[in-house]
Amino acid sequence: MSILFRCEDIGKTYGGVVALKDVSLSLETGKVHGLIGPNGAGKSTFIDVVSGRTPGQGRVYFEDREVTGASPSAMRRMGISRSFQRTSIFPALTVAAQLELANHGAGGGQTGELVQMLGLETVLNTEADEISYGQQRLVDLALSLVGEPRVLLLDEPAAGLSVQESAVLAGHLEEIAKRWDVAILLVEHDMDVIFRVCSILTVLASGRFLVQGNPADLRNDAAVIEAYFGSTA
Ligand SMILES: Nc1ncnc2c1ncn2[C@@H]1O[C@H](COP(=O)(O)OP(=O)(O)OP(=O)(O)O)[C@@H](O)[C@H]1O
Ligand SMILES: [Mg+2]
Repeated sequence: MSILFRCEDIGKTYGGVVALKDVSLSLETGKVHGLIGPNGAGKSTFIDVVSGRTPGQGRVYFEDREVTGASPSAMRRMGISRSFQRTSIFPALTVAAQLELANHGAGGGQTGELVQMLGLETVLNTEADEISYGQQRLVDLALSLVGEPRVLLLDEPAAGLSVQESAVLAGHLEEIAKRWDVAILLVEHDMDVIFRVCSILTVLASGRFLVQGNPADLRNDAAVIEAYFGSTA
């Protein structure tokens, strides 16, 4: 077991409202860790706090070094990358131009292999708002992978995708974790994707840690079903 990214007692309060409290989890190299829970559970807030976007409580360690409070750009240069729940691409720029911009921010490197793996060669010279939504989400993923990050924090990358597109995305995530040895945190509502790619799940409800375990065990866990559906019936 090789823990690369460790988050301890992460919390966030918005004007007296507790959005997240004392949530801890670790990411291992080559593994996908799922973070699930109902709407408003605090999943995006967790990513925002640990990636340096939003100030909050708790401590964050990368390769056993404390990086709590580092800025998003400093995190990115260290090899900690994130994606956003809504696509963060620029509609009027070509895919190639956006990769170039991201490459600049991440400190340079090759993007060719990335483009090839994600099957984006044919849309490189097309403006982002001219390509399909599924392809836009793949561009989002490509942008977060520029610079070969070691840690990838993904906020609902499959949202709005068709069943087929989600399956393609799940295959890419498996490959990124296994072949590129990336530690992935996957926030996702698509349970087919979650159960296919995650080796461990952390479940949140109302900003609190609910349970952690392997997907097969949690699939029928009464507390998890209750958190999602409000009843164990
Ligand atoms: N900027 C903000 N100001 C005030 N409250 C916020 C802010 N951002 C999030 N919250 C609140 O924090 C809680 C957690 O929100 P968060 O967006 O992290 O949930 P989530 O699990 O990502 O939900 P979803 O599945 O809908 O994306 C919610 O109650 C939300 O209303
Ligand atoms: Mg969210």
